[in-house]
Amino acid sequence: MAGNIVNNYGSFPVVFVSGKGATLTDRDGKEYIDFVAGIGVNCLGHGHPALVKAVREQAAKQIHISNYYNSDKGLAFSEALLKRTGMDRVYFGNSGAEANEAAIKLARKYGRQKDETGKRCVIVTLDKSFHGRTLATLAATGQDAFHPPWFAPYPAGFRTIAPNDYAGLDTLDNTVCALMVECVQGEGGVNLLDGAWAQAAAQAARKAGALVIADEVQTGVGRTGAFLACDALGLESDVVTLAKGIAGGIPMGACLFRGPAREVFAAGDHQSTFAGNPLACAAGLVVLEELGRPGFLERVARAGEQLRGGIAGWNLPGVSGVRGKGLMCAFDFAPAPAGVVQKECLDAGLCVTTAGKNVVRMLPPLVISDGEIQRGMGILKTILEKHGA
Ligand SMILES: Cc1ncc(COP(=O)(O)O)c(C=O)c1O
Repeated sequence: MAGNIVNNYGSFPVVFVSGKGATLTDRDGKEYIDFVAGIGVNCLGHGHPALVKAVREQAAKQIHISNYYNSDKGLAFSEALLKRTGMDRVYFGNSGAEANEAAIKLARKYGRQKDETGKRCVIVTLDKSFHGRTLATLAATGQDAFHPPWFAPYPAGFRTIAPNDYAGLDTLDNTVCALMVECVQGEGGVNLLDGAWAQAAAQAARKAGALVIADEVQTGVGRTGAFLACDALGLESDVVTLAKGIAGGIPMGACLFRGPAREVFAAGDHQSTFAGNPLACAAGLVVLEELGRPGFLERVARAGEQLRGGIAGWNLPGVSGVRGKGLMCAFDFAPAPAGVVQKECLDAGLCVTTAGKNVVRMLPPLVISDGEIQRGMGILKTILEKHGA
């Protein structure tokens, strides 16, 4: 418990006061290498000059106006985001769960348009998926650990199939309005989706008359070394959801539509007071500009290889399954729970996170320097070796 903040995060007692690049400073002046980036959010790191300038200037001009009106930054960001992604329309929200909630509602309405009996209402997701913490997105999440009985009843109309298993695709039928997938499952353990299977799954969904939703809340906005992981995988989606890195740390989510999903929402179908405010859009414009710089995404891919290659190259007993894409990385650690590694790394000046009991996960800022990667890896190795790895 920190102060009076409700204790549902189990936060560490450290109190951060500032950051620069991928280095954080706590209130005692101690520095930490940041391999977490606010759980994949601070794509431009901390204190990025262009982001700080844009947010500062926009805050002085206008922070929020409501969706009764348009803002110059809202129009500019929506145009730039659609151009970058090749999508047709965007709904802005404030988080990943909200972006997915929008996608789920849109899919349900699409299903109803195709079959007015309401039979086509099922959203199919993947085992070990994670889609958010609202009740509908929890119901979409394919992990029992996220379905404790005290939140029941969960919304109906969700079921899962196994990723990378062709047999499951035969179950996609005329009751399904959407298939929703993460190209790399983040919270579920950093599990990569096979490209051929993903393409076959999208094809099977379309054949069944369902939409394809790519949940790119964690994988999107350059995290995997491509702006959208689904594009790199060859997964053609009708709906893409984004959040986390989209505005460099200012809360924002987005649900993007195209093709058959383009005109499904009508006025009043889905709304949010804060959504698409000019402050977040101004920040989002900077993120798009920075990620669009020549070589930026290639560097993300290379930095990820440096991190994974380095860890795998140590050949430490107890470390296995070094995996990931771009700067979304993880490995299994047998000698101690990942939470213990996380705490000991923090004490030693390195932020890492977990994705399951024995999975250590790393999501550094996309702008992390080679030097910061090396320093962070040095700390990590010391901690792993301490456990006899
Ligand atoms: C794939 C995916 N979808 C949805 C969410 C939920 O996002 P938020 O915490 O912003 O609601 C997350 C968060 O980790 C995620 O990784």
